Amino acid sequence: MSLTIGVPREIFPGEKRVATTPEVAERLIKMGFALAIESGAGAAAGFGDEAYRAVGCEVLAAADELWARADVVLKVRPPSLDEVRLMKEGATLIGFIWPAQNPSLMEALAAKRATVLAMDSIPRMSRAQKMDALSSMANIAGYRAVIEAAHHFGRFFAGQITAAGKIPPAKVFVIGAGVAGLSAIGTAVGLGAVVRANDTRPEVADQVRSMGAEFVPVDYQEEGSGVGGYAKVMSEGYQKAQREVFAKQAKEVDIIITTALIPGKPAPKLITAEMVASMKPGSVIVDLAAEQGGNCELTTPGEVVVRHGVTIIGYTDLPSRLPQQSSTLYATNLLRLIEELCKHKEGSLEVDFEDEVIRGATVLKEGAITWPPPPPKISAAPPTATKKAASPAPAGGHRETHSVLPARTLAWLFGAGAALFLLVGWFAPSSFLSHFTVFVLACFVGYMVIWNVTPSLHTPLMSVTNAISSIIAIGALIQIAPPEAGAAGRPDGLIQGLAFLAILLVAINMFGGFAVTRRMLAMFRK
Ligand code: NAI
Repeated sequence: MSLTIGVPREIFPGEKRVATTPEVAERLIKMGFALAIESGAGAAAGFGDEAYRAVGCEVLAAADELWARADVVLKVRPPSLDEVRLMKEGATLIGFIWPAQNPSLMEALAAKRATVLAMDSIPRMSRAQKMDALSSMANIAGYRAVIEAAHHFGRFFAGQITAAGKIPPAKVFVIGAGVAGLSAIGTAVGLGAVVRANDTRPEVADQVRSMGAEFVPVDYQEEGSGVGGYAKVMSEGYQKAQREVFAKQAKEVDIIITTALIPGKPAPKLITAEMVASMKPGSVIVDLAAEQGGNCELTTPGEVVVRHGVTIIGYTDLPSRLPQQSSTLYATNLLRLIEELCKHKEGSLEVDFEDEVIRGATVLKEGAITWPPPPPKISAAPPTATKKAASPAPAGGHRETHSVLPARTLAWLFGAGAALFLLVGWFAPSSFLSHFTVFVLACFVGYMVIWNVTPSLHTPLMSVTNAISSIIAIGALIQIAPPEAGAAGRPDGLIQGLAFLAILLVAINMFGGFAVTRRMLAMFRK
């Protein structure tokens, strides 16, 4: 029998989002589930009961009936304890849970023998991007933060020259260039502001520049990347240097948008009361980390306050302020997760702990608490091979590291190589020996040249294939070129033919690569 998915109305005060849209509901029904939604659940996000009915959902008037019937409940905010009481024994719940902050909720759900997948615990890895609701919500929050700032700022964002005088562009400083930060940068650049940004992770500097903003570095050598691609808590020395940079920026810019956060830690206090006081009157600060205590000392979570003539916005519900957009993206994130859970049988769910994404998201399985999950195995930072890499990444960008063989294996390989050389030296004719030496040296030099090419303009793979192609081109040109005066006669036709073929193939590879790159870049241009 197929499962019934239930979508209750969000009861958290002011919450306008809904966990599914009519479009996604239709897809879920096609996957074999029955769908029930509480009347009015989508109203604040612009989705009426009729739209859900039209795609085959059952609209239920009473919340308790919905909770009692649903085998799988889809929610946005964590359920209240009263809602958990209405829940069917052994049901599955998918939504934001924040298990670290909600121990009593976890206990209540465990008592119901529930299986719970927390959207806030989906690991941030490439494969899970389509389910990453934190990122889709942060993207909206970053956008909305700029719109809120523009609303409270008394001037244009873009500079203008008008008959009535010259208007300078607004200067925006974004702290923390993660998902929300990059989205804020894109929006502010789009509105015509001059945008600067800072982050403790050096690898985001290029992303900041590619969005049209300036990266403001902190002149202090410390690697800022921690586990799983997130930032780490920085040393006292770094924090002091960073405060000096921020104090200078606060005096210059009109708008500060702060998004700095390390998951599971209180928000770092980066904007002090003195910095706020040093800003121009009429400036605006939007503190996205308000819910975790705020990046600014003067933030009041959930409110807009004016301190020293500066408006400080501490809204904690920015995605909900764009309810249709956030519901659509969130519902799609849920759909992608359900697709992963429903691989084998239509209309049913299977929580497979072999799958790293599902394991990461599952905080309760049939009443047993399975949170926290084992730590993620990946880091978005460039791999740091040695201790030396404590300094920021080299300007050339990402360098791949190659697996190093264990010392014993290496010793065996060297021993076998030496024995082989001895044998060759013993028996081969002397003319072969000199050619062989050149060949071995050429292999070594070629290897070093190719693997040391810095992929500054292209992907590492393209840089390596281009380096190999260049070496082939040089070799082929030497073979095809007419001999110098006094040198031995022309190379034979076969060799020249092969050299010509090599140059042709290499040219196709290299110029074809450039053509493909140009086409790909054109796809991103407006
Ligand atoms: P993220 O983890 O992608 O980005 C945070 C960035 O801050 C990272 O790039 C990190 O390196 C950087 N960072 C950490 N410590 C720093 C420091 N001391 N100095 C400079 N940079 C530092 O997180 P995401 O998804 O972009 O979210 C950002 C913030 O927005 C979080 O606090 C999140 O809770 C909040 N948020 C707020 C919403 C609201 O309605 N107010 C809605 C959605 C997200």
